[in-house]
Amino acid sequence: MLERFDLLQHAPLEGARTLLEIGSGPHAVATVPLAFRVGPEGRLLAGELSRWGNFVSIVADSGLGNRIFPVACDARRLPLRDDAVDLALCVHGLRSLRGEPNSVRIIREMLRAAPRIFLAESLPVARTAAQRSHLGLYDLREQVFRAGSGVADDSRYPTLERVTSLVEQAGGIVDAREIVEIDLPHFLAYFPRSLVERVPAAETRDRLLQRWDEAEAIWRQKGEDHPPVGIVVAHRP
Ligand SMILES: C[S@@+](CC[C@H](N)C(=O)[O-])C[C@H]1O[C@@H](n2cnc3c(N)ncnc32)[C@H](O)[C@@H]1O
Repeated sequence: MLERFDLLQHAPLEGARTLLEIGSGPHAVATVPLAFRVGPEGRLLAGELSRWGNFVSIVADSGLGNRIFPVACDARRLPLRDDAVDLALCVHGLRSLRGEPNSVRIIREMLRAAPRIFLAESLPVARTAAQRSHLGLYDLREQVFRAGSGVADDSRYPTLERVTSLVEQAGGIVDAREIVEIDLPHFLAYFPRSLVERVPAAETRDRLLQRWDEAEAIWRQKGEDHPPVGIVVAHRP
């Protein structure tokens, strides 16, 4: 949540009274900082497909629930009129949108619902051994999830150029791009070996188990740091 607070210093929140968040996720990690930043007069629509998890209790504990309006939706088709909000944001959510066509479609919807958008996502960049160790384990997630359940979540982090390209394909005009260095530990990369053991295809399973063992040993030795985050701010033509 501290990292999300930091990132939101780079969002064009001045004058924005109504916000839309895409992919709030089960822990409201960006939702609570966003609700804090929008202020007591502001409103945040928290859009999420299905993973509500502890969202309700975390929002209640934050004391900011009166500013947060959960919206269960598929962001490929937002249940909002044009220009319904001042700013639409997707924070560390691109990785879960399941591929380029979906991402472009969702960004296009964000640009329909808001005149401006803000996207933030970790970059596949490692400047330290601990960032490299994070990427080593994180980069296995998509393959393991796809091989295990057929569903690819936690895609590899996109480069800043790729995020820019997604925005441009969706018809957005990029106002600002930046890379933010995050001086914080990161605890996302780890996932249990048992998930790899459940992969049904033996050859794939053995290959992934070997890679998991190698990546996990480095992760244990070096720890993990948050990789730099790429930010793109764009507007509708
Ligand atoms: C990485 S997670 C949570 C990101 C969160 N904002 C954060 O700061 O940690 C991204 C979320 O996007 C949601 N998501 C994926 N596809 C979606 C869609 N088509 N419409 C709405 N939400 C979607 C997933 O269910 C997931 O909870």
